[in-house]
Amino acid sequence: MNDRGTVLPKQGVDRQVLLDEMRVLRDGDVDWEGNRAFGLVYHHSKVHTDFIREAHGLFFSTNGLNPMAFRSLQKMEHGVVRTTVTMLHGDDEVVGTMTSGGTESILLAMLTYRQYARKTRPWITRPEIVVPESAHAAFYKAGEYFDMRIVKTPLQSDYRADPKAMAACINDNTIGLVGSAACYPYGVIDPIEDLAALALKHDLPLHVDGCIGGFMVPFVEQLREDERLSPIPPFDFRVPGVTSMSADVHKYGYAAKGASTVMYRGMKYLRCQISAATDWCGGVYASPTLAGTRPGAAIAAAWASLQALGEDGLLENARATMAVTRGFRDGIEAIPELQVFGKPAMSILAYGSKVKGFSTYAVGDFLESRGWHLDRLQVPEALHLIINPGHAQILDQYLADLRDGVEYVKSHPDAAFEGSAPMYGLIAKAPMRRMVKNQVIDLIAGMYTADGEVPDIGPAPEGAEEGALVAPPSAPGVPKPVIWLMKLKARLGRLVGA
Ligand SMILES: Cc1ncc(COP(=O)(O)O)c(C=O)c1O
Repeated sequence: MNDRGTVLPKQGVDRQVLLDEMRVLRDGDVDWEGNRAFGLVYHHSKVHTDFIREAHGLFFSTNGLNPMAFRSLQKMEHGVVRTTVTMLHGDDEVVGTMTSGGTESILLAMLTYRQYARKTRPWITRPEIVVPESAHAAFYKAGEYFDMRIVKTPLQSDYRADPKAMAACINDNTIGLVGSAACYPYGVIDPIEDLAALALKHDLPLHVDGCIGGFMVPFVEQLREDERLSPIPPFDFRVPGVTSMSADVHKYGYAAKGASTVMYRGMKYLRCQISAATDWCGGVYASPTLAGTRPGAAIAAAWASLQALGEDGLLENARATMAVTRGFRDGIEAIPELQVFGKPAMSILAYGSKVKGFSTYAVGDFLESRGWHLDRLQVPEALHLIINPGHAQILDQYLADLRDGVEYVKSHPDAAFEGSAPMYGLIAKAPMRRMVKNQVIDLIAGMYTADGEVPDIGPAPEGAEEGALVAPPSAPGVPKPVIWLMKLKARLGRLVGA
């Protein structure tokens, strides 16, 4: 690896040169503008993105840390939160803040539950939060950060949270419950009314994670029956017993990255989120969220996005997105080897194989070789789609590649042991979960070592090509003997099955 970009140059590099170089660097990234990514980027339209960029630029250097200095940001944050609360049928009792994203909203909601429990039930020393298996990974992060046990409960056969299983896990240490509307893996909405009844019965707060669904589900709900994928049960502040919600403006609200909301039914909860250091020699320092400095541009762009799209715009977006989602679902279900898991309520599809031993991950590798960027789910093994209206342009191409991928894997069963497929398979199924966790942490840590494997930055922009990425950080290989054993097991399985 060369030193370019990893040392402070003696003399600053020409700004235009740097911009050119950065443009080249992007060539190695996923082609989201060509609609090749599903999730990661939420793209409404070019006209909207250009507008958001301008709104963002207007507030580029502003800082939401001090609302007295930037009254504009306070006004816009208030505007985004009130808009979101109203959309989710909250009244004036419901209050909240903006955050940097879904993870921060979830971290803060869980921190708030812990702080609230410390006040109201101080005898609890090992707080526990009961979640369905499909709750987002950010809840586990909250557990790690704030020293709480996240109690994972099995799902019903339709991939929705199981209130009975959750009830069975409530004990004297439980300080909160979680449901999703909708959940990231399968796009289904948990039975929020049942979970809320459970919460009320045990006098516990319930958080509904609407990070991905917050700006989509309320509009899908307004579509005609035949435009939806499945019925939408009540999921928001209409339901008594829903204490808090999170909804990301940087997902289906089409804001710039760094914009989410967290909302609580009652100031008594929000107060637990606010930190104030009053005896610091640096002055009285109070802040409502995890960050100190808060990028004002993200707040401004979020406000601008919601105002520009309006209710009609978001409804129209939901209609277009669901039409594309139905196209994907029908196309996938027309392939005999595949099925969509659960009955998604919104524009998320998880699909995998109906056929025992058929490697969905190998299909994923095939699709990646054709330039698609996909997430993989585990248990059950599945590929994942988060759909936006722009995916209408690639729907046919994607389905054609998917059909080819399935045919390829059928005729090359050993594809399950090539590429990244065995690694994903092993990660999903390896029994020693602590070891798997350490391996994954090693993988991430490896990207941050001094000589970590990162793409090279070219020496100078004239040779633009040289500046391009040389290689993405590679996934760890599965040792050859393990592959050999996996192949043997699969072949024996095929012989016995034959
Ligand atoms: C349901 C759900 N919750 C939380 C998150 C985390 O959001 P973020 O990536 O903005 O932190 C996601 C992300 O997709 C999500 O789908």
